[in-house]
Amino acid sequence: MSRRFDVTGVGYTAIDYLGVIPHFPEENLKLELDRLEVQGGGPAATATVTAARLGLSTAFIGKIGGDDRGAMMLRRLAGEGVDVSSVVLDEDALSQFAFIMVDAQSGRRTILWTRGTLEPLRPDELDMEKVVSCRGLLVDTLEPAAAEAAAREAAAAGAKVVIDAGTIRDGVREILPHCHYIVASETFAGEISEGRGERAALEEMMKYGPEAAVVTLGERGCVALSDGGYIEEKGFKVDAVDTTGAGDVFHGAFLYAVLREWDIRRCCIFANAVAAMKCRALGGRAGIPGLAEALELLGEQAPGLDFA
Ligand SMILES: Nc1ncnc2c1ncn2[C@@H]1O[C@H](COP(=O)(O)OP(=O)(O)OP(=O)(O)O)[C@@H](O)[C@H]1O
Ligand SMILES: [Mg+2]
Repeated sequence: MSRRFDVTGVGYTAIDYLGVIPHFPEENLKLELDRLEVQGGGPAATATVTAARLGLSTAFIGKIGGDDRGAMMLRRLAGEGVDVSSVVLDEDALSQFAFIMVDAQSGRRTILWTRGTLEPLRPDELDMEKVVSCRGLLVDTLEPAAAEAAAREAAAAGAKVVIDAGTIRDGVREILPHCHYIVASETFAGEISEGRGERAALEEMMKYGPEAAVVTLGERGCVALSDGGYIEEKGFKVDAVDTTGAGDVFHGAFLYAVLREWDIRRCCIFANAVAAMKCRALGGRAGIPGLAEALELLGEQAPGLDFA
């Protein structure tokens, strides 16, 4: 039997090629990159890495192809101490890939991506032992069928379930009733509220019965709704060179905070801090801090709150 992990992530993994561009290109142009970087990516995978950097024991379940990119994804995850023994390998498929243009001035990213030729992760491919034995489950909306099955089983077994709600696609609404925390992007918020704003989006999300709903707002931080009411938590001030993966990192840090049993406000502040720190380096993972480093920034910009 596999051992009990603090966090199991179920969902999407990728390899990101990140190029820093001096300005956004027009059509039919040749543009020399300032810099090229190759890092692991994917919402659930990078959130799992974040939990690992913060000191938790972690496992990841997703799907990879039998090519070099698949092998690289495994190496990068394992190198962070993430258990990858239940990752599903489709030997004949081409793996996921993203090319990301990072604007040198603003640090904002434009992402071009493909799943390769991989089929979606199926519920019957999940190592349910790792799903039901974790303390916290992190799922994304890129592998909805697997996410729904995992969320249902983990919640029934007593784990806290956090979803990175990126976009509404087929099967995503079915995951939500099994989630304790629905933590959404602005895109998802716009979709679920049909453009009626963040507050309406939070109210729509709360109808699925979570303990809290959150919308992340980039550099502006996040807003949340729970039984305790509505809160706004502003983002941390950093020199942002690349926002790629900020949302993924926010979710990993948020789940860490949930497992520490902090209140929703402290969960939001902690996740804002960790996600902001990620933005200080190029790529989805290079800038993810450890716990001590995160506590340092919190001490500077959110003094008086106890995160120890
Ligand atoms: N420029 C920034 N400065 C400080 N913090 C940031 C910045 N950009 C993002 N963050 C932090 O990261 C969190 C998540 O960012 P964002 O809302 O852009 O995620 P997202 O829309 O899910 O995108 P992705 O998943 O592609 O990173 C924010 O709530 C905030 O805490
Ligand atoms: Mg996101």
